[in-house]
Amino acid sequence: MAHDLAIRGGLLATATETYRADIGIRDGRIVTISEAITDAEDVINATDRIVMPGGIEAHCHIAQESGMGVMTSDDYESGSISAAFGGNSSFIPFAAQKKGQSLTNTMQTYDARAAPKSVLDWSYHLILTDPTKAVLAELPEVFAKGVTSFKVFMTYASRVSDAQFLDILSVAGKHGALTMVHAENHDMLDWMARRLVDGGNVAPRYHAPSRPGLAEEEAINRAISLARLAEAPLFIVHVSTPAGAELVANARAKGGQVWAETCPQYLFLTREDIDKPGMDGAKFICSPPLRDAPTQAALWQHVQAGSLSLVSSDHAPYRYDDSGKFSAGRDVNFREIANGMPGIEMRLPLLFSEGVGKGRISLNQFVALASTNAAMIYGMMPRKGTLSVGADADIAIWDPNETRVAGEMHDAMDYNPFAGIEVTGWPVTVLGRGRRIVENGKLIAEPGSGQFIKRAPLDLTGHPGQPVPELDPAQNFGANLS
Ligand code: URP
Ligand code: ZN
Ligand code: ZN
Repeated sequence: MAHDLAIRGGLLATATETYRADIGIRDGRIVTISEAITDAEDVINATDRIVMPGGIEAHCHIAQESGMGVMTSDDYESGSISAAFGGNSSFIPFAAQKKGQSLTNTMQTYDARAAPKSVLDWSYHLILTDPTKAVLAELPEVFAKGVTSFKVFMTYASRVSDAQFLDILSVAGKHGALTMVHAENHDMLDWMARRLVDGGNVAPRYHAPSRPGLAEEEAINRAISLARLAEAPLFIVHVSTPAGAELVANARAKGGQVWAETCPQYLFLTREDIDKPGMDGAKFICSPPLRDAPTQAALWQHVQAGSLSLVSSDHAPYRYDDSGKFSAGRDVNFREIANGMPGIEMRLPLLFSEGVGKGRISLNQFVALASTNAAMIYGMMPRKGTLSVGADADIAIWDPNETRVAGEMHDAMDYNPFAGIEVTGWPVTVLGRGRRIVENGKLIAEPGSGQFIKRAPLDLTGHPGQPVPELDPAQNFGANLS
């Protein structure tokens, strides 16, 4: 037989096309796309289903300690399984450097957490919290291993200074790596939070006003300027404001090498959700915080216009108990509650139902936001993120008509912030390199069957950058900039 497996009778959707065809798979790769494949050992019947590239979850916290030292509830087993049930066939969690830790040791720590457990293929974005000279010198080695994206924080205890940020951007840029940033102005947040707490406003809901949109806008503007000066590409994570999205779109329109994402919590929840009695609002504490309904509507426009390239979950699972949200105790103010909420399994069903189902985005835009753009930005194209001959058979088969009310997920969480929302369209079968990971709603893959993905650099063709005159030898008296 020419094929190990054929997917027959489905409607194929990529980031650019929708058409009927069969897919033939051999040795984990797509080898044939044609009208009818009849020579396969094994067949999946995809009649009445949509067949698309498996989702790529590009922002999730798995088996990772937060800045406050709280371990996520999900490890690579529960996290990858939950992601697979949500239509993903690969993911890129973070490997977070601790202060004083070498990058080699950081990578080893996360390899030990991921390799025995993940059902999905995975890579890491490396979080840098302590960019000493020795650590910066290790970066090219990490890059050579195929980890081609780094992340820094402009807030939290793990934040870097602007000078450190410039150093990281500069080394990453020279080696073709992409720097990601959590952009909020730390001092603006700290000043607001202190005023709120000093005034006795300590309940979880005050997390929202403690982190003004202006703090995000300021930090995004600064991050873009720093990246220009360092001549390096930049990715802004979890953009929650239209002002932030506009800065990204404007920079890119001028040649800037800047991309960004938003997340389900900013598209499907609002600040009304954090306004709960008692401590219940803690379930909705994430940073940046939930915004108001007009902000949400304007963010959707940026998703539609393409200024935001991805919708990632920012799955940061801290349970509503003493192991997670309340690891600092129950009698605490909003500043002491772990930041983050789960969403790895809901990201794509929500985006499909509210996006494609309600006519806000096309099916092809959905595929781009769910998978293809992540593969392009994070150096995995053409192996991942598309249905084409030669690509890994990373495929999600969706029932576009199945309606469910969101409830319990397959993660290790004890709540779902999106519970109760009616969602139409669910992934039913997910393949990774041709292996069945989930089939008709049942887990098939074994923990440890995922593989590490060696990634390439971001392709900057067509994004020339925004030259800074003082870096031009003709304008800086031929200065030697080391
Ligand atoms: O509140 C959030 N988003 N927690 C996870 C860490 C981060 O900032 O992405
Ligand atoms: Zn963040
Ligand atoms: Zn995050």
